[in-house]
Amino acid sequence: MIVVRSVKELQDILKTETSVGLVPTMGNLHVGHLALMAEAKRHCKLLVASIFVNRLQFGPNEDFDTYPRTLEEDCAKLKEQGVVDIVFAPSEAEMYPQKQTYRIKPDSSMADILEGFYRPGFFEGVCTVVGKLFSIVRPNVAVFGKKDYQQLQIIRSMVRQFAMPIEIIGLELQRDLQSGLAFSSRNRYLSTKELKKASELYQTIQVVKKALEAGNVNVDEIEKRACSLLTQQGWQTDYVSVVRQVDLLAPTESDLINKEPLVVLAAAKIGTTRLIDNCEVF
Ligand code: PAJ
Repeated sequence: MIVVRSVKELQDILKTETSVGLVPTMGNLHVGHLALMAEAKRHCKLLVASIFVNRLQFGPNEDFDTYPRTLEEDCAKLKEQGVVDIVFAPSEAEMYPQKQTYRIKPDSSMADILEGFYRPGFFEGVCTVVGKLFSIVRPNVAVFGKKDYQQLQIIRSMVRQFAMPIEIIGLELQRDLQSGLAFSSRNRYLSTKELKKASELYQTIQVVKKALEAGNVNVDEIEKRACSLLTQQGWQTDYVSVVRQVDLLAPTESDLINKEPLVVLAAAKIGTTRLIDNCEVF
């Protein structure tokens, strides 16, 4: 495994490669990230993992400055796992030498709702960096986690609309088997007490899923009940929302009756830490 910091050097290495996979990350790698690497390696010969904390996707009051930067530990984990061939870890000056004044603006019907509503500009930052990584690496396949469900669907739609010749693979959300808590780099901000409560988000999503599976079609009421359940348990809830998997729009009555593929998405704060989680239904 080698660590490459320059775009030119990476492109020189990749010039003659015909089966390249890419897993974009912001580092501080955990079990969830490593599962993406393992999946990606099943679909390519040469695997590139990128590690870059992307300023463009952080709001002014978000945690860009304090986001954990742990390149050495990350590389040690990847080396031990043994599936990544190249770690691409550019500096900000290397990635954005002209401050990246050109941007990729995603479809607002998908990007201004849910996470995009609470984090304005977030998906423009994500699409811009992912689009740029795609043009640097030119992968045949790229793997993203369903942990960031809205992000995955927006990237799928970007790739489709720009006819980018890249296969996008979505990997199941990886959780702690005992508590159900989704692995996340932000879990490290949680106190011991908060860590114990954190799986309440997952449990609430399960309640919503069961109600839908039982044939309850009153989505508004189900969502409201889930929000107040979280509030009672001490969370500040941004949303618990049931949407269609493909386009993230609210389900119609016929979607519900015909059990079309839906997903329950949730975002809430415990203390000062904001967590997201989700679960596919049907
Ligand atoms: P980051 O939060 O580091 O996540 C990198 C990838 O790991 C994403 O595709 C994310 O969905 C996936 N991931 C994180 N936790 C996971 C879990 N518990 N189970 C499954 N997959 C998980 O997402 C980003 O970085 C950035 O927005 C990025 C795409 C790199 C652009 O900057």
